[in-house]
Amino acid sequence: MKSPIPDYLDEVVQSTADDRSGRLADYIPPLAAVEPNVGALALSTVDGTVYAVGDADLEFTIQSISKPFVYAVALAQHGIDKVLERVGVEPSGEAFHELSLESGTGRPLNPMINAGALTTHQMVGEPGITEDKRNAQVLDALSRFAGRELEVDEEIYEAEVSSAHRNHAIAYMLRSHENITGDPRAVVRGYVRQCAVRVTVCDLALMAATLAHGGVQPVTGERVIPHAVARQVLSVMTTCGMYDAAGDWLSTIGIPAKSGVSGGIIGSLPGQVGVATVSPRLDDHGTSVRGVKMFRKLSHDMGMHLM
Ligand code: DON
Repeated sequence: MKSPIPDYLDEVVQSTADDRSGRLADYIPPLAAVEPNVGALALSTVDGTVYAVGDADLEFTIQSISKPFVYAVALAQHGIDKVLERVGVEPSGEAFHELSLESGTGRPLNPMINAGALTTHQMVGEPGITEDKRNAQVLDALSRFAGRELEVDEEIYEAEVSSAHRNHAIAYMLRSHENITGDPRAVVRGYVRQCAVRVTVCDLALMAATLAHGGVQPVTGERVIPHAVARQVLSVMTTCGMYDAAGDWLSTIGIPAKSGVSGGIIGSLPGQVGVATVSPRLDDHGTSVRGVKMFRKLSHDMGMHLM
C-alpha cells in the first residue's frame, strides 16, 4: 500500500507556493541573487526513512543551521561545564548578529547567536589546533551528521568573509574579553567557512534526525555525538534557535528548531523525526517565511510539536 506521507508533504509545500512575501538575504551578495520562488521539504524518521518533496535537489549553504552541530562538537570534545564557562544557554531576545554578551563576564548568552557561534567554533580542536585542521574537523563533523561528504561553497565563502564587518567587530569584542584567543580574523574565516557548507533539505533532515535520535545518524548508524550532548543541543535550540522569534515559534509551532539566512529551517522532534525546509525569502528575524508556514502546518495537522 502506497504511503500517504509524500502526497501530504507535497500538499504542505504547495500550500505556501504562492507566498511572495519576505526578502532575500542581501548582505551576502550571492544570496541576493538566488531563485526566490523555490521551496522544498524533507522529513527523516529516526529509523532512516527519508521523504523529500518540492525542489529537493536544490543545494544551498547551511549558514546558521551549522551552529547547533558545531556546538555539539564543542560539547562532545570539552564537556558541558567547560563549554558553559565560554558560552551561556540563555535566550538573548535579540537578533542573531547582536553582540549579546553577559555583563561582567563578557560571555556570549548562547551558542545560537553569532557571538556564541564564533566562540564555539574556536573551541573545536582546542588547544593548539591549526586553523586548517579545525576547519577540516568542522567539515568532517557536519558530514558525519549528514551521512555523506559535504563541501564548502567557495564563492559564498569568499563573498561573505570579504564583507563580514559585523562578525569581525563581534570577534574583536570577544577577543577583548578573552572569550576567544589568537587572531579574531582566523575565527571569522573559520566560522564563515562553516556557514558556507553546501547542503540539501535531505541532508538537513538527516542532521536534524540525528539529534532527534540521541546522536545516532539514522542511515549510517554512526553515533556522531553522545546522547547527553544531543539532549543539550535540543534544549538550547528550543529556547534560542529562532533568536528574537523564539517565543512566537515555540508558542505557535513548538518544535526545537534552527533557522539560516539561506532560507533553511530544521526541526527535531526527539525520538521521532527530523524535518527540514528551504525557501529563500526571509522575514525580519532572518527566518524563511514559507518555512515557518510549512512547519506551522506540520505542527497543526500532524501534532508535530513538543508542547
Ligand atoms: O554570520 C552570518 O551572518 C551568516 N553566516 C549566518 C547568519 C544566519 O544564518 C542567521 N540565521 N537566520
